[in-house]
Amino acid sequence: MLSSEIRSLFIRYFKEREHTEVPSSPLVPQGDPSLICTNAGMVQFKSTFLGEEKRPYVRAVSSQKCMRAGGKHNDLDQVGKTARHHTFFEMLGNFSFGDYFKKEAISFAWELVTDVFHLQKERLWITVYQDDDEAESLWKRYMPKERILRLGAKDNFWQMGETGPCGPCSEIFIDQGETLHANCPGIGFCDCDRYIEIWNLVFMQYNKSLAGTTSLPNPSIDTGMGLERMTAVCQGVTSNYKTDLFAPIFGAIAQSIGRSIDETIDMMPARVVADHLRAMTFLI
Ligand code: GLY
Repeated sequence: MLSSEIRSLFIRYFKEREHTEVPSSPLVPQGDPSLICTNAGMVQFKSTFLGEEKRPYVRAVSSQKCMRAGGKHNDLDQVGKTARHHTFFEMLGNFSFGDYFKKEAISFAWELVTDVFHLQKERLWITVYQDDDEAESLWKRYMPKERILRLGAKDNFWQMGETGPCGPCSEIFIDQGETLHANCPGIGFCDCDRYIEIWNLVFMQYNKSLAGTTSLPNPSIDTGMGLERMTAVCQGVTSNYKTDLFAPIFGAIAQSIGRSIDETIDMMPARVVADHLRAMTFLI
């Protein structure tokens, strides 16, 4: 499946469920001094979550261009070292502004990954915030308890930055197999490429400000699926750099240094160049 098909399937799935498609906002947030770059799909909806802006819809879907090269969500130091971190990437997301909450968000996510993208259930793992009994019991409709892990705030409480909307979250991981790390201690204990997070469902409930934390006017949903990671999974490769999204870039880098494409993808500096070329292109 091509990356463009994955993007279209995601957007179509949610449009068929009454979500309004909203175009990606610019990489430089408009009128939000708390961020240098857009780091998630929810950034353009911040004031809607906060109840400061009313939109003519309560459900949205988008494919948002994101940059994580500084601030709270900073993947810069990982780029090139792992097969899955980037400065620039695309985040697919569905949003509810005071409309549906955990139950529907989890049902949508499960149906999409298993019935539309056909990921094998046996390879999937779920994490929930340590106190979130409700999310765990909702996931138990689909997954055995042993594959639903409870983790702390570092892994399962999401916030856009030092301030802004935030809440406990639940993540969907896929096991890419023992060949990547036979004795991997598992999700939350190892940062290798074996178990990769493909989708984060945030149960938006709070707003953090310099004065403290308050409840949002309505519980809401914000999700983020990495297009590059989902493309790798659907294309049966264990590196984002081996997907169609990066193929033309590695073709050009390989040609310019006189190596094969496979050799080039194995070179950490070439992966950094490929990542940064995309980032700079979209920033410009
Ligand atoms: N806003 C959800 C995420 O970035 O994972």
